[in-house]
Amino acid sequence: MMETNFLIIGSGAAGLTLAVKLAEKFPKKKITVVTKAHQSESNTKYAQGGVAAVFDLKEDSFQKHIEDTLIAGDGLCDKKVVEMVIKEGPLRLRELMSWGANFDTNADGELTLGKEGGHSKFRVIHHKDTTGNEIERALLARTDQLQNITILPHHFAIDLITEHHFPELKTEEISCYGTYVLDQISGSIFAIKADCTTLASGGMGQVYGHTTNPAVATGDGIAMAYRAKARIENMEFIQFHPTAFYDGKNQSSFLISEAVRGFGAFLRNKKGERFVLDYDARGELASRDIVSRAIDSEMKKSGEECVFLDCTHLEIQELKIHFPNIYETCLKNNIDLEEDWIPVVPASHYLCGGVVVDIDGKTSLKNLFACGECSHTGLHGANRLASNSLLEALVYADRIFKYISKNLPLRTTISIAEWNESGVEMLKSSEILQQKTVELQQLMRRFAGVVRNNKDLKEASIRLEGLYAETEDLYQKHKLNTSLCQLRNMVNVAHLIIQQSLVRKENRGGYFNEDYNQ
Ligand code: FAD
Ligand code: SIN
Repeated sequence: MMETNFLIIGSGAAGLTLAVKLAEKFPKKKITVVTKAHQSESNTKYAQGGVAAVFDLKEDSFQKHIEDTLIAGDGLCDKKVVEMVIKEGPLRLRELMSWGANFDTNADGELTLGKEGGHSKFRVIHHKDTTGNEIERALLARTDQLQNITILPHHFAIDLITEHHFPELKTEEISCYGTYVLDQISGSIFAIKADCTTLASGGMGQVYGHTTNPAVATGDGIAMAYRAKARIENMEFIQFHPTAFYDGKNQSSFLISEAVRGFGAFLRNKKGERFVLDYDARGELASRDIVSRAIDSEMKKSGEECVFLDCTHLEIQELKIHFPNIYETCLKNNIDLEEDWIPVVPASHYLCGGVVVDIDGKTSLKNLFACGECSHTGLHGANRLASNSLLEALVYADRIFKYISKNLPLRTTISIAEWNESGVEMLKSSEILQQKTVELQQLMRRFAGVVRNNKDLKEASIRLEGLYAETEDLYQKHKLNTSLCQLRNMVNVAHLIIQQSLVRKENRGGYFNEDYNQ
């Protein structure tokens, strides 16, 4: 068993920001970050467009950013949270810059600002089209300088340790005492006991298979919190990004940033028509749910497998300067932006709901915090405004840091049992896990995708019960590995999405159910 003061699960923008702040303030305390792949692997690393924040007080204002966020959230945002995040955003970004993150500036050294769907002003600060990679680089470099941070890469958090693991403790309140962790290289499982634990484990795009998210985004933190009986909400609000590169396969795919549409690119169907204008006067820069549904409807009408993003009318040299990564990646796929249209489809991109937290990042369990994409703060409501998620991750890491600084958690005296593996068998082949994962992803795309209806959701619920029973059986009887734990977590997350979709009896924000189509 390992002991630490502050345990953080995940090494994206949320987890690393919290680690840096705690390490700076408490040089004598131990901060441990467990992360299930290489330490840089995360949704953060792939963020393109940038971070939305008000830096241009002549053209923009906090009020306008607040209004845009509330409009996107369609009545379900928590106004107090929206105001707090948007007003604190620039401070957090300045702090990130002080740790070495570089954002694009003009010849006068002023930040250059991009625009994305739903924003009334140019306010997205960025590092070319690889903003997330730059943030991740800067944060990891800062953690390297701090002696009291231990990052454990290739360590998979399996389950939170709570009263559930100590039946002799008869208490009403559930507390978190750390987590059981699988060392993905040796295969051994051990406990990490912590004074307090923060989930910073990111999103769940892999539940749909076809996603802009990398392989690590399997909703583990949400599933762990759910099993530990924490409150989880707004899981029906999955944001589908309209423009994921289409290569004919249903797996993680490269994102074509909304900033490219902000730069003037047009969406066209195969006939060359700018069809989005028939759905919304804002055209390509309508909110993501509207553009994704317009594409979905266009594809269903025409029977085509994708639509296209046309950049051929744009100034190519400028495009290359702003979007070098997108330009090069398209070229590698034989798409020359000067001449060819990019084939695109909507793909699962972001989870607006998650583990419910209060304004200090506290979950409903004692000594358990959450921040970043796995959390539900109230900022996004029914739909997230583009580039508001990195902002939320930075601000909430800081909120948790401030709360912990004022309310230092006590050392826990409880003694934690070793992980019990007696009686388990080695899984004969990993093929079954692969098959079940694909089955789950197909089910979610088919029955709980961009456009849903109650009949499909009920069908999904029934089919998922079967998958749940089969997965639990595999989990109980076999030695654990990453794929098995991830499958179990994705089944839990799919259950939450389906059940919370069935409870919502209206269309709102990013949630669209044909049965409520007025
Ligand atoms: P992540 O960055 O996803 O980090 C989660 C970490 O948890 C990872 O290190 C992961 O390995 C680890 N982890 C997960 N489960 C476990 C486990 N069981 N055990 C141990 N470790 C675990 N947002 C914006 O604001 N602007 C953008 O321009 C933007 N562009 C995007 C482009 C793409 C392609 C994608 C996919 C997302 C984009 N987003 C953008 C969304 C944004 O990147 C994420 O919401 C944000 O980075 C989430 O940060 P996080 O720290 O919460 O999670
Ligand atoms: C993008 O660059 O289009 C993604 C931005 C986001 O998800 O906020």
